[in-house]
Amino acid sequence: MLFRLTDLLVATSWFALINAATKKPNFIFIITDDQDLHLNSLDYQPAVQKHFIEQGTSFNRHFCTISLCCPSRVSLLTGRAAHNTNVTDVSAPYGGYPKFVSEGWNDKYLPIWLQEEGYNTYYTGKLMNGHSITTYNSPYAKGWTQNDFFLDPNTYIYYNVTLQHNQEVPKYNPGEYSTDLAAERSVAHLDDAISKGDPFFIGVAPIGPHAETIGGVFNPAVPAERHKNLFPGLKVPRTENFNPDVPSGGSWIRTLEQLNQTVVDYNDEFYRRRIQALQAVDDLVDSIMDRLEDHPDVLNNTYLIYTADNGYHIGQHRLPPGKTCPIEEDYNVPFIIRGPGIGKGKAVYFPTSHTDIVPTLFNLAGIPLQDGFDGEPMPVTAEQQVAVVRRSEHVNLEFWGSAIPEGAYGDDAGGNNTYKSVRVIGDRYNIAYTVWCSNAHELYDMEADPRQMSNIYGTSGSIYGWSIEKLTARIDGLLLTLKACKGVVCTRPWETLHPQGNVASLRDAMAPEFDNFYTEQQKKVSFTACKDGYLTDFEGALEPVIYTASSDISLRYQM
Ligand SMILES: *[C@@H]1O[C@H](CO)[C@@H](O)[C@H](O)[C@H]1NC(C)=O
Ligand SMILES: *[C@@H]1O[C@H](CO)[C@@H](O)[C@H](O)[C@H]1NC(C)=O
Ligand SMILES: *[C@@H]1O[C@H](CO)[C@@H](O)[C@H](O)[C@H]1NC(C)=O
Ligand SMILES: *[C@@H]1O[C@H](CO)[C@@H](O)[C@H](O)[C@H]1NC(C)=O
Ligand SMILES: *[C@@H]1O[C@H](CO)[C@@H](O)[C@H](O)[C@H]1NC(C)=O
Repeated sequence: MLFRLTDLLVATSWFALINAATKKPNFIFIITDDQDLHLNSLDYQPAVQKHFIEQGTSFNRHFCTISLCCPSRVSLLTGRAAHNTNVTDVSAPYGGYPKFVSEGWNDKYLPIWLQEEGYNTYYTGKLMNGHSITTYNSPYAKGWTQNDFFLDPNTYIYYNVTLQHNQEVPKYNPGEYSTDLAAERSVAHLDDAISKGDPFFIGVAPIGPHAETIGGVFNPAVPAERHKNLFPGLKVPRTENFNPDVPSGGSWIRTLEQLNQTVVDYNDEFYRRRIQALQAVDDLVDSIMDRLEDHPDVLNNTYLIYTADNGYHIGQHRLPPGKTCPIEEDYNVPFIIRGPGIGKGKAVYFPTSHTDIVPTLFNLAGIPLQDGFDGEPMPVTAEQQVAVVRRSEHVNLEFWGSAIPEGAYGDDAGGNNTYKSVRVIGDRYNIAYTVWCSNAHELYDMEADPRQMSNIYGTSGSIYGWSIEKLTARIDGLLLTLKACKGVVCTRPWETLHPQGNVASLRDAMAPEFDNFYTEQQKKVSFTACKDGYLTDFEGALEPVIYTASSDISLRYQM
């Protein structure tokens, strides 16, 4: 389905007015671990269907901006792209909790900002990787009124998770199911928040449906005992890109061999375990809703969000289970919101991302936005969706390091996986473009080819009435503008490229008068080596050439 930009306008003043007169809203933020949108996992969650999808608005084109747990969570909690947090991996030297601390984010992220506005803040479950039994108190994660964190190395052990309450010493929980513990702690947090009476934020981060993981070995998720026999025979959806007969995907993915029946059967079992593990997440949703429904006056001033840190693939493009790849399955994640003024049973299709979440919460709470945010408020309420300001039509995706294959058969599938990617979803066009550190390129028409089976980069045809060559030149210029962007440049890249103010979308940029500028004068996105972190020396041009009045007579001006 396509949308028109004119439908997406934001009424900020209306909201400021409401907030001045009423108490700040509460937030309950449920974030699952590695949950897919494209493998239909939500179809097996009746509580999410009942309490979120039927009662709220589904953002069906919501993306994480880096498809890996720790960097994605840090981006989400700071409102900044990974290239601006420089937390780009799950462990040292490029990521993990100690990197989050050393980059200064433990002093400036969501819970601290909300506390400054009078909120009580709570968190249950996984905060981020590298938050462990040795790092949790050096220093403590700041900003929480109460916390019950899951700590490494047992974060992903479903029946022996480490729980660390407030500033107490961590405790193992052998024989107890981690998602049920998360449910119990979240409801306790809700009781405490309601009894205190101030506005609250409650983060709920169960491990399901992540693989059971220890020492870098990823085994199938472990469901709760009561769910372990559900869904016999359930298989990964056999979409066009599932274990295809011809290679697909870009760079190293294109070299993968077709999976044999043993591996396909294993992948189906891996998938079934995920769906089973999600049943306890569904029970968690029910527990929270049951308690909230006992307090209708609280429920009617609470926004609830259900999302995932990153997406997931199993067998698409012949890949072993995992995330990290520049494919729709890994980036397009569930995002459903319900609460005051939010449309019920509604689905929207304009692009939004995890870096938009903090600005969105600020907007709902009437807190002024920070210049450093790389995202912008999502129009979540019905009123916001019909007002007057334009939204961006792109999402910038990025990754550094190796792919991380999961399960028993992925050993050979961990290629150089550093890339820059952009999704452009605009008025009657829908495109995906990636430049790999190998300098392989991919371009997909996501309307005609949503499973990304036919790479049209470098072909001579046309899509949407535009020559592929001329279109690619524009999108590469857009990606070059986004790859190191900060703040408003990330949300308004066309205005940066065209300060004259006459270009605000891909469609505008396709005007023939800019052909020479984009094909001849603009620099290209490129890499000189594949590196595991954000090392700018190896990432080619960092800034685009800006269009000036003299550009159209082929004089080059560089910023
Ligand atoms: C739980 O994990 C701890 C820490 O790894 C370990 O010492 C303990 O033996 C485990 N308990 C069980 C029952 O697996
Ligand atoms: C199937 O492929 C896996 C992974 O390459 C391999 O280990 C296994 O031996 C193969 N099984 C058969 C029956 O060919
Ligand atoms: C919320 O609930 C309270 C208490 O039941 C009620 O007084 C108030 O009118 C409700 N507000 C809305 C917006 O429904
Ligand atoms: C990964 O990239 C590095 C640096 O560009 C290169 O030396 C290495 O051969 C690459 N590895 C693979 C498996 O392609
Ligand atoms: C990101 O962090 C790494 C590791 O500390 C460092 O080497 C690199 O220079 C940083 N990148 C930027 C752009 O600051």
